[in-house]
Amino acid sequence: MLNNFFNPKSIAVIGASRTPGKIGYDILKNIIQYGYKGAVYPVNPEAQEILGLKVYPSTLDVPGEIGLAVVAVPPQKVSEVIGQCGDRGIDAAVIITAGFRESGSEGTKLENELVKRAKESGVRIIGPNCLGVIDTHSRVNASFAAGMPNKGSIGFFSQSGALCIAVLDRALAEDIGFSKFISMGNKADISDTDIMLALAEDDNTKVILGYIEGVNDGRRFMEVASQISKKKPLIILKSGITSSGAKAASSHTGALAGREAAFDAAFKQSGVIRAHSVGELFNYALAFANQPLPEGPNVAIITNSGGPGIIAADACERSDLQLVPLHKETVDELRTFLPPVASFYNPVDILGDATAERYEKALYTVVQDEKVNGVIVLLTPTAVVNVEGTAKAIANIANLIDRPILTSFMGRKSVESSSKILMKYNVPNYSYPEEAVSSLNAMCRYQVWINRPDKTYARLDDLKEKVLHIFEKVREEKRERLSEPEVYEVLKTYGFLQPKSLWARTSEEAVAAAKRIGYPVVMKIISPQIVHKSDIGGIKINLNSKKEVGDAFFDITTRVKDIMPTATIYGVMIQEMILGGKEVIIGITKDAQFGHMIMFGLGGIYVEVLKDTSFRIVPLSHEDAREMIRETKTFPILRGVRGETEADIAAIKKSLLILSQMALDFPQIIEAEINPLLVKKRGEGVVAIDARFTIGGD
Ligand code: COA
Repeated sequence: MLNNFFNPKSIAVIGASRTPGKIGYDILKNIIQYGYKGAVYPVNPEAQEILGLKVYPSTLDVPGEIGLAVVAVPPQKVSEVIGQCGDRGIDAAVIITAGFRESGSEGTKLENELVKRAKESGVRIIGPNCLGVIDTHSRVNASFAAGMPNKGSIGFFSQSGALCIAVLDRALAEDIGFSKFISMGNKADISDTDIMLALAEDDNTKVILGYIEGVNDGRRFMEVASQISKKKPLIILKSGITSSGAKAASSHTGALAGREAAFDAAFKQSGVIRAHSVGELFNYALAFANQPLPEGPNVAIITNSGGPGIIAADACERSDLQLVPLHKETVDELRTFLPPVASFYNPVDILGDATAERYEKALYTVVQDEKVNGVIVLLTPTAVVNVEGTAKAIANIANLIDRPILTSFMGRKSVESSSKILMKYNVPNYSYPEEAVSSLNAMCRYQVWINRPDKTYARLDDLKEKVLHIFEKVREEKRERLSEPEVYEVLKTYGFLQPKSLWARTSEEAVAAAKRIGYPVVMKIISPQIVHKSDIGGIKINLNSKKEVGDAFFDITTRVKDIMPTATIYGVMIQEMILGGKEVIIGITKDAQFGHMIMFGLGGIYVEVLKDTSFRIVPLSHEDAREMIRETKTFPILRGVRGETEADIAAIKKSLLILSQMALDFPQIIEAEINPLLVKKRGEGVVAIDARFTIGGD
């Protein structure tokens, strides 16, 4: 797929310039100087010869077949040039030229024209507004980058050309190998997802690395990422904002979904390893490209000084890694050659005067321990340490075993050459211990991901038809929100228990309703304009007598009239007061790129303050529902603290799956939430105390 971009038989540089220092000149120079073996055709109507090559006035004049076109002519000429590429049967073009969508409305117009022309002409495009494409294995450097990285197994795509340059520069400085470099530019045609697929199929690429600011089709991205991530690590740094976060949110769920929740959920559900900084992106790439995956979370640390050992141990504590107690035989063996004041337990401190030989023996001994799944070796470059010798010794052992070994030779100047030695032997070295720990942790999590059984999905009864009329009525009446009785009906149909409720329009009706339901009761204002009732004092709980109900009616209705004089008040709802249980929130929200998401979190009035929530994209699998409950801080509270009995977590999970089904059934739902959902003791279920639904066009 997209083969001509990476392994073309010949390349035409359209806009090849005669002037050194101009982009069109540097691209041609890069293609020639980095050893591309196919034919190269410079195209420029004004020139005869550039860099020793015959120049053609137009693509149409080039005699041979052309595999790839690299375009660097001014923006107004690009569409025409692409049309000519189509006439010549070229199916792949990298467009370097800027001045399109990124530059405003005129540029957007040009880009739309370009896309149309490319489609009509059968030409696929990378760019425009990009740095170009590099393939170290086929020796294609169709870019104006200042260099060519070593051959390697990391495939990198980036929406930012500047980031490409920065990553390339570091790769050159540290001799880090890459398989492919793809600067995506405006992604007018070929998307991140297309490139991910191409890299997944590429035998030279072992690790896929990406920088994105957004994706065009969230669903396809997830589908493709889920397939790829089971075969190759897919590490992505995501920045920027999604448009969904910008829209005003009328529910807690919408407000809490924020800008990043959808990407975070999508990455988790499709096995993407998320890097949170450029440094982390690089660190992870080095670990994944060079070392085997750990089979489990058990890690051993070897160090020549106490502090870094503790720093690494602390970082492990914050991660999924575990500092494993070493076997007695391992400790006994370490005692035979380490000085008596060394520390024989994990972290193993082999002291500041450790020689290369001591490092080698200690590492060899520790990796014999079957309990150890991976080792982090730390080195502080003291005056007595033979840093390079130690690097070689560690590399020797690392190449003998099939468990990951990561190092942190700390600092810069004294460890520069040893870091290159380690890299040469595929042992990633990090400036600081925490980086080694977080990289090994990412590998450990990835191992868990690839070992995960396939997801399983719930089969729920088809209930849609039973409440379709409600949604249709709301739309016909041009309303955005379902009324309280409508919400009640929808939730009841989908199997949610709700408190007994009666509607009252007068104080007398309220008292009668309370008597029928039985004390204590809750009273809530009913008004289509009031979304968050408690914010304006529209709820009273624990009303125990006729008098309390009468007073509450007066209180609530006058307060609401004072605060929101224009609100239409339909009356109050008298509700059975459910005692006990824990309050959670569950909800549906819609993201512009990924569609419906389900939210779970700590409920009640502190929802937006504590923000203890998790999100997943619909449809939710059983595993998604379980994980999203577990990853909140609320989870241990639901499990029960200080002798409390466990809450009905299974019922929450089921509720999340039902909401997911509801979102599938009704694409018109923009936001919905049940808050609070009262969770009773294990086996006793949940009760939807309050809920709201907002719908829009689907
Ligand atoms: N076919 C072939 N060659 C053509 C041509 C055509 N239709 N029209 C013009 N040319 C030639 C010109 O003769 C010129 O050659 P010369 O330098 O030998 O005179 C060459 O193409 C370049 O044209 P020129 O008009 O001088 O443009 P330029 O070099 O100043 O700028 C770009 C062209 C593409 C570099 C510029 O428009 C641009 O987009 N720069 C920014 C690129 C960028 O930042 N990309 C994103 C990176 S992340």
